[in-house]
Amino acid sequence: MNHSIFKEAEIKVYVKRDDLIHPIISGNKWRKLSEYIGIAKENPELPLLSFGGAYSNHLYALAFVGNQLNIQTIGIVRGDELTYTSNPYLTQMHEWGMRLYFINRKQYKLKVWPVNEKVLVIPEGGYGELGINGISQLVNEVTPFDPTHIITAVGTGTTALGIRKFWDKPIYGILTLNNLAEIQRHENEFNITGNIWLEDYIMGKYAKKTDIINNFCATFENDHQVKIEPIYTGKMFYGLYDLIQKKHFPRGSKILALHSGGIKLPN
Ligand SMILES: Cc1ncc(COP(=O)(O)O)c(C=O)c1O
Repeated sequence: MNHSIFKEAEIKVYVKRDDLIHPIISGNKWRKLSEYIGIAKENPELPLLSFGGAYSNHLYALAFVGNQLNIQTIGIVRGDELTYTSNPYLTQMHEWGMRLYFINRKQYKLKVWPVNEKVLVIPEGGYGELGINGISQLVNEVTPFDPTHIITAVGTGTTALGIRKFWDKPIYGILTLNNLAEIQRHENEFNITGNIWLEDYIMGKYAKKTDIINNFCATFENDHQVKIEPIYTGKMFYGLYDLIQKKHFPRGSKILALHSGGIKLPN
C-alpha cells in the first residue's frame, strides 16, 4: 500500500486481504469457525450452536456455512421481542436452515438455551480455544513474508490471540469496544500474553459511526480501492495511520495489517 505518511516514516505497509476469502464468511469468520466445522463434518448428528445479536456477523456466517456444507446450525439470538422476520439477516439465516431461538437478555447473558439435545457450542463471536487454533493457517500464510509487526482489529480478541499463539512476536490489537479487562482475562486464560492492546481508537462506543471514521473509510477506499467498514477494520487502519504519523514504528518496519473482512448485506 502506498501513502505519503508511510514514505515519510520510511516504513512499508502491506494488507493481508482475508476479506477476499469469501463475500459472506470473509476474513476471520472463516478462520474462527474452521475447527468447529471440521468436528461437525465428522459428527453429522451434532448441530453447531452459537450466540449473537440481531445483526451478528458471526451467526450469519455460521448459518451460511451450515447451509453450504449441510451442517445443522442453531442460533441463539438476544432479544425475545424478535422473530426471524425482524430484519433481513435473520430472515436469510432462517432460509439457510439455521434454527433460531430468540431469548430474553437475562437468559442470553447466562448463555442458556432452550434446546434439549447434544450440541457443539461455539462461544459468542467464535471465541475459545478452537477459534484461536483456527487462526494458525493465517499465520502459516503470512510468516514466509516475515513482517516486523502485525496489526488487527479486536472484538473478542480471538483473532489477535490466535495470531500471537502461532507467531513469535507481539501483536498490535486495536480495540473496538471498551473491553480491555475481558481481553486481558482471555490472554491469561490461554497464556498468550505480551501483546500490545490499544484503546485510543474505540471512538466512543461499539458501532458508533462517527463522522471521523466514516470520512476516513471513504478516503481510504478512494486512495487504495479497498473497502473497509467503520466498526472494525476502519478503526484498525485509522489507528495504524495515527501510530505511523506519531512515528511509533521504527524506520524500515514492514507492517502487515489484517483486513479481517466485514459483512455483506443480504440482497
Ligand atoms: C470484520 C471483523 N474484524 C475483526 C473482528 C474482531 O475479531 P475477534 O472477535 O476475533 O477479536 C470482527 C468480529 O468478529 C469482525 O467482524
